[in-house]
Amino acid sequence: PPSGLITGTGSRLVAEEPERFRVHRDAMTSPAVLTEEQRRIFDHNWLYVGHESEIENPGDYVRRQVGGRPLFMVRGAKSNQVNVFHNSCTHRGAVVCRRDQGNAKVFQCFYHAWTFDSEGKLSGVPDREAYGNLDWEGLGLKRVARVASYRGFVFCCYDPDVVELETYLADAKDYLDLVVDAAPAGMEILRGTNEYGIDANWKLLVENSIDGYHAVSTHDTYFKYLVALGTDVSGGVDGVGRSLGNGHAVIDYRAPWGRPIAKWEPLFGDAARVEIDRLRAELTERFGEARARWMCEHNRNLLVYPNLIINDIQAVTVRTFMPVAVDRMIVTAWELAPRNEEPDVRQRRLDSFLTFLGPGGFATPDDVEALESCQQGFASGGVEWNDISRGMARPPAANDEAQMRAFWRRWRDDMDRDDLRSMP
Ligand code: FES
Ligand code: FE
Repeated sequence: PPSGLITGTGSRLVAEEPERFRVHRDAMTSPAVLTEEQRRIFDHNWLYVGHESEIENPGDYVRRQVGGRPLFMVRGAKSNQVNVFHNSCTHRGAVVCRRDQGNAKVFQCFYHAWTFDSEGKLSGVPDREAYGNLDWEGLGLKRVARVASYRGFVFCCYDPDVVELETYLADAKDYLDLVVDAAPAGMEILRGTNEYGIDANWKLLVENSIDGYHAVSTHDTYFKYLVALGTDVSGGVDGVGRSLGNGHAVIDYRAPWGRPIAKWEPLFGDAARVEIDRLRAELTERFGEARARWMCEHNRNLLVYPNLIINDIQAVTVRTFMPVAVDRMIVTAWELAPRNEEPDVRQRRLDSFLTFLGPGGFATPDDVEALESCQQGFASGGVEWNDISRGMARPPAANDEAQMRAFWRRWRDDMDRDDLRSMP
């Protein structure tokens, strides 16, 4: 293995038996494990950068922290392509793009004022005579080794030898298709971002995002609220947990609450019925009865390994998160919406994004409390292993843990690999 990496961490921390699956709590508490994750997982897998709709016009850019590295994504003025650059000046290192988003013809480094265009080309150096023959080509901004997009979602990878994005996504592609196809005019990320920190290991949010088991107990207040609104919750959640290959996973289920794609009631009331019927008819015509029903009536909480979550539920959120310490992560979430949505419908969507999934909504504070509570519990010691065996003895339901095991198996294999090299 590359220098500094330890072999066998994966199989040491993930223990699998026929009807028993356990994860050692060191995986959530050891700073050495986090260091390994940075080099093994975040340096070698495709990571979500952003959505093409965020940079629609030439020169539009967004700044991102991806896999622990500062980057920015900009639409090139000449190529009209999505460029993703390491956010570091080729002179002596300063961060070149210093705002979260905007539009720029050039990016000027504030330190000594070198300038780069939206294609990354070095375009200006004060007192250039001081250099004689400056290597203008070689001193352009450094592109991230691999950049690719699928249905508008832009990913990058620091390992030039990674498999193609579509191969990597495996069966997660089908679920991305289901989300995107539900919007006949395409999807766009709405302006405005939720950003918050959680004092817990990042993998606890991976688990929580695809955990049907916790919903009724952790989100008790929300269920009481639904009942108060007159929603019949007695049918409960009905569905499956699935591994989608390469560590990706989903829970796919029907639930009593509404969806902002053609199943607006009961969450939004009967007023949306005209819109429901119109959308449903359109999707049935395009995709057939069965697929339209799957799109309209099923919720899906999708994990794209290692750290992208798409919750297609009461709203469609796109959420990514990065560890900044073994017991702390920063979460960023955006709302994805159909283009050309009716204004009142759009308003309801945004309400749902904020009031259910937002950092002060019905769901997120409960989940944050649960995750921080686990992290606090780990500090007590005494108990070495977490149990993730639920559903091993039967076909996996949405409130089992098969989908989490899919994540952990890939994590184990990534942590065990001995063919990795260090990425610059
Ligand atoms: Fe950017 Fe010197 S570090 S111009
Ligand atoms: Fe939750």
